[in-house]
Amino acid sequence: MGRTRVTTGHVFIATTLDGYIARKDHAIDWLENQGTLSEEHGYTKFIDSVDGIIFGRKTYEVVLNLVADGEWPYPKPVIVLSRTLTNSNIPSHLTDKVEISNHNPTDLLAALGKKDWKRAYIDGGITIQSFLNEGLIEDLIITTLPVLIGEGIPLFGPTNQDIHLQLINSTQYPSGLAQSHYRVIKNEA
Ligand SMILES: NC(=O)c1ccc[n+]([C@@H]2O[C@H](COP(=O)([O-])OP(=O)(O)OC[C@H]3O[C@@H](n4cnc5c(N)ncnc54)[C@H](OP(=O)(O)O)[C@@H]3O)[C@@H](O)[C@H]2O)c1
Repeated sequence: MGRTRVTTGHVFIATTLDGYIARKDHAIDWLENQGTLSEEHGYTKFIDSVDGIIFGRKTYEVVLNLVADGEWPYPKPVIVLSRTLTNSNIPSHLTDKVEISNHNPTDLLAALGKKDWKRAYIDGGITIQSFLNEGLIEDLIITTLPVLIGEGIPLFGPTNQDIHLQLINSTQYPSGLAQSHYRVIKNEA
């Protein structure tokens, strides 16, 4: 009998020191202003390591506005989790790159496992939180910028239970970025 492959979830995200991934209006000027985007801090290696990307709908909409009709920046298939969008909402120039799904995270990763996805990049605050709460995130690479913005959209939120992590690696970059790589310790219960 063949073993069912399970796709694992992986996070690579930038936050402010006070834990926000965007301002309330979705602005990421704090990210762009720090002269950090030109510094290679592992994104290329990370994106090469995944089979595809799962965005929350709000992250997808921000990306869509940022690229407008410009070149789509993602070299891997993108799945957008949404209960409000359908595939008919995808602009025609992206229909071969982006797909909408209303699956719950567990069912989505099971379906992707059948398509031979081994590793999925999970992105967007609410989305990361829902995958974390379902025990579907294997590790997180969190790049912290040395800035406090006071309020915004948080990376983390309510949890169903405590989630313990193991720090695998921590790196300081010349621009002032601090990057921490955490592995989620699986709850044996
Ligand atoms: N700093 C960074 O590196 C970074 C990275 C990524 C994103 N961001 C920023 O983060 C902001 C968006 O994050 P966010 O936390 O507000 O939202 P998000 O996670 O991007 O999107 C949330 C939406 O995704 C859909 N969704 C998520 N989980 C779902 C589930 N389990 N089942 C069905 N649908 C689900 C829902 O869409 P529907 O309402 O359509 O159902 C939900 O409203 C943006 O401003 C973006 O620019 C920053």
